[in-house]
Amino acid sequence: MLLADLHIHLLPGVDDGPTDWEKTNQMLKILAENNVKVVAPTPHVWEQNWQDIEGRHKGLTELMGMAEQYGIKIISAAEVWAIPDLPERWDKVLSLTYAKVGKYLLVEFDFTEMPLYTEWFLFQLRLRGVTPIIAHPERYLWVHGDERNLFRLLANGALLQVSADTLMHTDTPMSKMAWWLLQNGLADFLASDWHNPDSPYPLAFAVQKLKSILSESDLERLVWTVPVKIVLGQNVQPAWHRSPLRPEVQAFISGVEHPTPKRRWWQFLTFWKRKGDGKWRRW
Ligand SMILES: [Fe+2]
Repeated sequence: MLLADLHIHLLPGVDDGPTDWEKTNQMLKILAENNVKVVAPTPHVWEQNWQDIEGRHKGLTELMGMAEQYGIKIISAAEVWAIPDLPERWDKVLSLTYAKVGKYLLVEFDFTEMPLYTEWFLFQLRLRGVTPIIAHPERYLWVHGDERNLFRLLANGALLQVSADTLMHTDTPMSKMAWWLLQNGLADFLASDWHNPDSPYPLAFAVQKLKSILSESDLERLVWTVPVKIVLGQNVQPAWHRSPLRPEVQAFISGVEHPTPKRRWWQFLTFWKRKGDGKWRRW
């Protein structure tokens, strides 16, 4: 199965990713061995980095050349910390979207508190034609504590990128959340958020694990079809539109607390009827 990885720290010496080109080269080799064909290095863009935004992509051209030897296509992107005055820096924001086409932007939030401006922030991006992609929603404590906060993100048109490294476990609050998002069909795509070659490549691990759980087409959508559409700037139908939780999300968006009426006591009774072959079956 071909893979596309849209959240990875691959540029050397730029953020908390690889420290030098040798490590970057090791990572490229491992990516190629795992059939990864499209990679979007996403250097962190924090408050202090806005003075030198071009510096966040230092080495990107060299990386493109290096990756070509491994048959990997490199796409420009970034992992942008959600700050309230982002719209005021709009001319710089466009250069941080996937492939610089101004269609999709990877954003990360404070892990412990949901910023008060979150919904306004997402709305501002949508207003400018950019679909926000929430990096690793499974890590945010404010999503664990109240699923309505997750629905607020979806209601504002965001896509969800679940990180493969959290799927390597099943017993931590983050990994439980990641599995819950996957099992409920809320994850739009998977990415590695890999930082250095000393740790195993998590996307390959997740694909192996998910092969026995998901159908091939569902798995392919998570690791190839949707990421490629994002890179090409094509429309992506949010996963929650097909999720079993769709009624709950829609009810939340429309302000209705319970989408389905409460069941009456007699609706829990099971009636049996004798069929023509003499066997009893549920009525
Ligand atoms: Fe990251």
